[in-house]
Amino acid sequence: MTNLQRLKLLFISGPNLQLLGMREPAVYGKETLEDIYERAWARALELNADVDGRQTNHEGTIVDWIGESSGFFDGILLNPGAYTHTSIAIHDAIAGAGVPTIEVHLSNIHAREPFRRHSMVAPACVGSIVGFRGEGYVLAVEAMVRHLRSRPKP
Ligand code: DQA
Repeated sequence: MTNLQRLKLLFISGPNLQLLGMREPAVYGKETLEDIYERAWARALELNADVDGRQTNHEGTIVDWIGESSGFFDGILLNPGAYTHTSIAIHDAIAGAGVPTIEVHLSNIHAREPFRRHSMVAPACVGSIVGFRGEGYVLAVEAMVRHLRSRPKP
């Protein structure tokens, strides 16, 4: 890790993730999204990065945020919620924006219902972090910072 420029990361959480804390705690844990973003943000600061943490229930808003990210953010951390399994539009936004993106899921989507086992967005992402509940958001920050800092300089 030689490039120590301050990194700007965008964390997007999709539909129903505003309900974390009360939503199916046996699956998603008891932390609120605010708690999780606070931990991810604190870790980012230690790594000389900033995180802008957002949430929306709307697919088009996710598409807009990704499309507007180029030139403003170095990396995107994305939990698309249920749109993971359906959204070609989000896949295309990630591929089109060209901003490195890591897919994050609180639950292990591969160990759940069959309809959750396929991710439409995964092929456009650098990689995925699944199954570590809120800790996955912290791991995603660490993985993205490592990924960005280890890239060869242009
Ligand atoms: C989720 C998994 C999705 O299948 C589900 O629709 C969610 C949350 C996760 O973080 O585990 O809303 O993305």
